[in-house]
Amino acid sequence: MCGIVGYIGNKPAKDILLNGLSKLEYRGYDSAGVAIRNENGFDIIKSKGKLENLKNKLKDKNLFGTCGIGHTRWATHGEPTEFNAHPHNSYNENVVVVHNGIIENYLEIKEKLVTYGYTFYSQTDTEVIAKLIDFYLNETNQNPIQAISKFMLRVTGSYALAIMFKNLKDEIYVARKDSPLIIGICNNENFIASDVPAILRYTKDVYYLDNYQMAKISTNSTIFYNIDGMEVKKKLTHIQMDLSSAEKNGFEHFMLKEIHEQPEAIEKTIKSLVKNEDIFLDRTGITNDFLSKIENIFIIGCGSAYHVGITLKYVFEKLANINVQVDFASEFRYRNPVLLKNTLLIVISQSGETADSLAGLKEAKKQKVPTLGIVNVVGSSIAREVDYVLYTLAGPEISVATTKAYSAQLVAGYLLAIKLAECKNKINQITRKELIKDVIEIPDKISVILKRQNEIQMLSSKFVNVKNIFLIGRNIDYAVVLEGSLKMKEVSYIHTEAYPAGELKHGTISLIENNSLVIGSISNINLAEKTFSNMLETKSRGAILLGFLTKDIRSTICDYVFEVPQINPLFANSLVIVPMQIMSYYLSVLKGNDVDKPRNLAKSVTVE
Ligand code: AGP
Repeated sequence: MCGIVGYIGNKPAKDILLNGLSKLEYRGYDSAGVAIRNENGFDIIKSKGKLENLKNKLKDKNLFGTCGIGHTRWATHGEPTEFNAHPHNSYNENVVVVHNGIIENYLEIKEKLVTYGYTFYSQTDTEVIAKLIDFYLNETNQNPIQAISKFMLRVTGSYALAIMFKNLKDEIYVARKDSPLIIGICNNENFIASDVPAILRYTKDVYYLDNYQMAKISTNSTIFYNIDGMEVKKKLTHIQMDLSSAEKNGFEHFMLKEIHEQPEAIEKTIKSLVKNEDIFLDRTGITNDFLSKIENIFIIGCGSAYHVGITLKYVFEKLANINVQVDFASEFRYRNPVLLKNTLLIVISQSGETADSLAGLKEAKKQKVPTLGIVNVVGSSIAREVDYVLYTLAGPEISVATTKAYSAQLVAGYLLAIKLAECKNKINQITRKELIKDVIEIPDKISVILKRQNEIQMLSSKFVNVKNIFLIGRNIDYAVVLEGSLKMKEVSYIHTEAYPAGELKHGTISLIENNSLVIGSISNINLAEKTFSNMLETKSRGAILLGFLTKDIRSTICDYVFEVPQINPLFANSLVIVPMQIMSYYLSVLKGNDVDKPRNLAKSVTVE
């Protein structure tokens, strides 16, 4: 994914664009660039690498233009170089564009444009956008809305675009399909961004651009059009988020801040669904009658969202005695899934923009299956596409490695499972109240763990040079080690693998050697002995054993143990993941990595 910003108003655009880009750097940080209007056209300045490099380039430039667009890139087409950085433009800067998304048929269009005399300086699909719009501008007698409309009809793929035209001095145009774009409204100035944090310090009044919509934005007006170029009216949304959410507030990294925000994120999510010891899904539109008829659940997601699905499989099956399948969205969308009668498809996504999850959702909708999204970003593409949406109230999550959103998704899923079990008469009122009480206790129990952060920091320092980490667990503990493994590899770059405890001996144990680190998660006393014996199999081959255990479980074999408070084993992942998150964080810091913006990653992968 990439980050887009734009500004048109009465202040110099340069610092506003750079400030916006710094709030979107989590969306992509291979390269960055801005285009700022001047009296003859544009100043277009780009740089490879982190945003800091662009800031240094712009530091001594006196750019006074009050209209401009900017971009942070996560490379899809073409190396992360200055040439491939956005903004891209048509041959004489007639058209200047920044783009988030992927144009799938760009090569075919590029070949066609070459026959019309166009030449290309980059390997990007975005440069093709600029030249295609320029081509249509000439075909439509310099009508920008008609030119953009023709562009939208001609291309396949996804895009959020901000476009400036040399001859249209006081206007910025935007267009969107499948990649997010918002327009922030202020007095005599307007803002464009891929995501809310970029404009929060200026305004909380925004328009969410819908698919196949365009807009013409000037200093004090915004006019919306549909793909046919007809004007449309849109509703203004007032954002409920506060600015501190997009700042570090004294923490060194967003990841640590967001780990510490988990109790609050979970509490807000619980409070949005639980009143007087009962669960109300009204805000999602789901009714008790609808739930009572569900016979199958299919959960899709990517990365950590997929891992939430694996946890919820155990919870739904145990509480509601219902068939649950879980799949990677990237696999689901291509395997002609068989969705049984009375199936509810649940798509889990923090950003609500993950391309594979969005595509999997569309595949399910083709089969006329009711769909529910568990999503964190309000108004995101997935939230707008599903039949029902259950928002996690984790607030903006800036660090690429998800923590608080993952935890809020777990809790939202627990409550949905309890409600489902109740609607299907699988649990009585007493059990329901006990289960809700167990869930309500999670934030305080996480706070207990957070207070012991330094112990985990010390523990992490012992393992900063390990080459491989194997994480094992049985039943629902397998689900949590999947997430722990991803966290560790994602930010520390240490190779990790997660395995069902009983599976390690079927091959992978051959990789165990002296000083391999084996982490066991054990939260169910009934399965503890079995997992300990699997851990012992590795110890006899030289492994060092670290146990993440709930308080009721005693270990005699682990070299190191970290206990978390006791809890209903069904909800234990919400606690056991916390020391794993903190350990991941400190391994990353100790290795000198860019914790919040790990190499090769982006916060939401809006391309396949
Ligand atoms: C999690 O730490 C990763 N950043 C990644 O696996 C992420 O969970 C995945 O890309 C899905 O993102 P989403 O929840 O926004 O759809």
